[in-house]
Amino acid sequence: MKLETWKVTLGASLIVSTLLVGCGNSSSNTTSQDGDNTAGSGGSDTVNSSASNIPYLRENHANYKEHGSQQTPAPTKDANARSIHWTIAATTEDGAEKLAGHIIYMIGQLEADQNPRGWDKLFLMEAYMKYNKYYTTSVEKSATNVVVSKVANTACAYEVISAHSDAVSGDFFARGALMVDYSSRAEAILASSACNDVRTSLESYISARQSTRGNGGGGMGNNGGM
Ligand code: HEM
Repeated sequence: MKLETWKVTLGASLIVSTLLVGCGNSSSNTTSQDGDNTAGSGGSDTVNSSASNIPYLRENHANYKEHGSQQTPAPTKDANARSIHWTIAATTEDGAEKLAGHIIYMIGQLEADQNPRGWDKLFLMEAYMKYNKYYTTSVEKSATNVVVSKVANTACAYEVISAHSDAVSGDFFARGALMVDYSSRAEAILASSACNDVRTSLESYISARQSTRGNGGGGMGNNGGM
């Protein structure tokens, strides 16, 4: 088994250490901010991002809170800045690491042109937006806290990441419910004037990538190996 440790700086605020375990599984490197990976140092916690951690997150969804309160985590949205920010408190460092590892793993999947949950048009649209660099994601873990920032550079991409964040807050964190299909929400966004410029391309992407819904409980599509 080969162990390697990476430190990457993602944008101005993020320093994440990623432990990649090369034992035949598809390991994910951290990458974000349009692939702006530069060597960083100090001040960061180690995050293992080699797995999606979805079963853990589903099981432990109620242990995550909005930082400084006992409320379900919710995104702070700024439509003008096309940005979404989360500050999430876990009850343990392991819980924070599992969540940060999940997000970093998913960033890696999207940047590798994979389609986690490929039966759901909202997740397909988000994959398209990420792969085509219509938004960036940064993740910072510090002790038991996880800070996430997503910034879109088009109105259409903002609508997509905003709808995704509602799903994460309202179903994933609040209820541990993974089987809701957000495709109708995605279709409404696709039909809106915000998406005029990318509609044709997005429709082609969706029809080429959409997979059949499996019964794996985690609601994962069959493209992405999860
Ligand atoms: C069907 C299961 C799940 C899938 C396919 C999935 C997939 C994803 C993807 C693709 C991202 C976006 C990364 C990016 O845009 O850069 C993401 C982010 C995130 N996920 Fe999950 N996830 C799942 C379940 C969960 C669960 C159960 C939780 C927590 C209880 C969770 C919490 C988060 C958070 C907090 C983010 C970052 C915030 C955001 O993107 O708005 N996810 N996930």
